[in-house]
Amino acid sequence: MRRLIAALLCWLPLALTGAVPAWALDNGLARNPPMGWNSWNHLACNVDEQAIRAAADGMAASGMRDAGYEYVIIDDCWQGPRDGTGALTADPVRFPGGIKALADYVHSKGLKFGIYSDAGDRTCQGRPGSLGHETQDAASFAAWGVDYVKYDWCSSRDLSAPDAYQTMSTALAATGRPMVFSICEWGISHPWDWAPAVGNLWRTAGDIADCFKCTGRRPEGGPRNVGGDDDKGPPPPFMGMMGLGVLQELDLQAGLGFAAGPGHWNDPDMLEVGNGGMSEGEDRAQFSLWAMLAAPLIAGNDLAHMSDATKAILTNREVIAVDQDPAGIEATRVAHSGDADVWVRVLADGGRAVALLNRSESARQISVSWPELGFGNSAGLVRDLWRGKDVGKFSGSYQATVAAHAVMMLRIGKVH
Ligand code: GLA
Repeated sequence: MRRLIAALLCWLPLALTGAVPAWALDNGLARNPPMGWNSWNHLACNVDEQAIRAAADGMAASGMRDAGYEYVIIDDCWQGPRDGTGALTADPVRFPGGIKALADYVHSKGLKFGIYSDAGDRTCQGRPGSLGHETQDAASFAAWGVDYVKYDWCSSRDLSAPDAYQTMSTALAATGRPMVFSICEWGISHPWDWAPAVGNLWRTAGDIADCFKCTGRRPEGGPRNVGGDDDKGPPPPFMGMMGLGVLQELDLQAGLGFAAGPGHWNDPDMLEVGNGGMSEGEDRAQFSLWAMLAAPLIAGNDLAHMSDATKAILTNREVIAVDQDPAGIEATRVAHSGDADVWVRVLADGGRAVALLNRSESARQISVSWPELGFGNSAGLVRDLWRGKDVGKFSGSYQATVAAHAVMMLRIGKVH
């Protein structure tokens, strides 16, 4: 409750003016949490230009583009060797048409194009990193028409994260092309304390795995395409911190909301919705919780072959509206007891988004009280966002049965 009031006092005045605070990067981008797709969770190192084109096609054809998804991002393994001038080149077998043509294709679909590099001299899959080439690589990205750069932290050795990320941030700005800057150093040096001034989003923890409640599982095919044609060269320099389930990621987000707002977001890693490791209810739970966290909604599934259930989750407009709420105030955990969590997010219209999370293996009752919402005891109109239905007017509290491994996501408006 105290945290909720603190969040209100800190953010509401700024949020209502729409201003980016003086200490945060203001490159005019990511005023709402970025939405898009990234190749890593589904394809790992098995990327090629057909797969990226198929993702762009799928984003447009599935209705995701119309629901707000925008960036198509190639993760690791697109790179070939540097050329004689030191410039990055694309893997000639996987990307024979080159990156510029691929970016043009993505743009022709009314979408934006993102790419991946690394602050060290090697990426996590042993490809060339940007260390010592930051200005040159930023210029290549700009020339190719890149709109979003994810910047990883493998082979970073004794670099200082704030300095290394600032170097690339400055190089990107110097190109004059607007590019979202996505910082990916896994939360090691507490990026929430420095990254808002440097980038638009920053990973707060290690890599997500396609499971609800687990640790130590690696993303499918990752972190290295063992046995595949990418399984050559030196072992990747970074193998740790892989494989956090949705709940494990979530628990590392509590208390970080102070750092997020329009233009600068905490990033609990990408979505696993539709990748098959979780039940439909668990997929829905991840999507709900990420929306509560004002997290980037970066899908990681096969967009060309999605089930209707997956599509319905990824395009639920009411849940997306919570994620994209213009006030940009991240949810606060107001209750965490045993297997039940209550997260509350203050919305621009004065209402609240509420997630009732059941971590347990059986259905249970979870309630939220109006003081936890900062509402006094006045009546509130409760809407269930997954059912798309108003549930009714309640005063004082609301209690519901939440299925096992599930989230009930509500929007509660004050009735005057
Ligand atoms: C790291 C990142 C992942 C992904 C892989 C690619 O593990 O955290 O998101 O980019 O590298 O190698």
